[in-house]
Amino acid sequence: MTLMVLIPLAYLLGSISFGVLASWIFQLPDPRMYGSKNPGATNVLRSGKKAAAAFTLLGDAGKGWVAVAWAQHFMPAAGGDDKAIAAVALAVFLGHIFPIFLRFKGGKGVATAVGVLLGLNPWMGLSAVAIWILVAVIWRMSSLAALVAAGLAPIYALFFLGFEASTLAVLIMSLVIIWRHKSNIASLIAGKETRIGTRGTP
Ligand code: G3P
Repeated sequence: MTLMVLIPLAYLLGSISFGVLASWIFQLPDPRMYGSKNPGATNVLRSGKKAAAAFTLLGDAGKGWVAVAWAQHFMPAAGGDDKAIAAVALAVFLGHIFPIFLRFKGGKGVATAVGVLLGLNPWMGLSAVAIWILVAVIWRMSSLAALVAAGLAPIYALFFLGFEASTLAVLIMSLVIIWRHKSNIASLIAGKETRIGTRGTP
């Protein structure tokens, strides 16, 4: 399969919002209507339905992992095609951020980036997940955990991948994630950020 097919396919896969799908499957309000209005796992958890949040997390992360796995299958990095893999990784991530199926208004990209990182290098992905969990357990704030993990991810990428196109893709994803969290950053500074598990008001 050529890059000209893989990139649009990855973008379309990224455009599938598992948070919105979860609301249909579990008969919940649309996550874009309550809490932070973000169609991500953290906000779906505010519905009170843990299974729906888990479905969202696994689906949004899974699509990132699947797209990278496709790219690695069709254009193995060993063959020097890291640029192609990085492009597909960015395509699935940007699909989640700007989904064609949701009028280009998507999520914040954390779960999808985790899937991409796990696909690019499992140890890099697990390092990002570990720091996310550590911060989340200590401060119980998903956004803070995401911001710290996003800040460290390019360093992990340098360590695990070296100076490669995929490292640049990780840096771009981190910058986009931080930008998508601008309202969370304002709430964190104001001391008003909600803690994980706080119910939203549909
Ligand atoms: O992954 C998104 C999370 O970092 C923040 O979500 O709903 O609290 O804005 P939310």
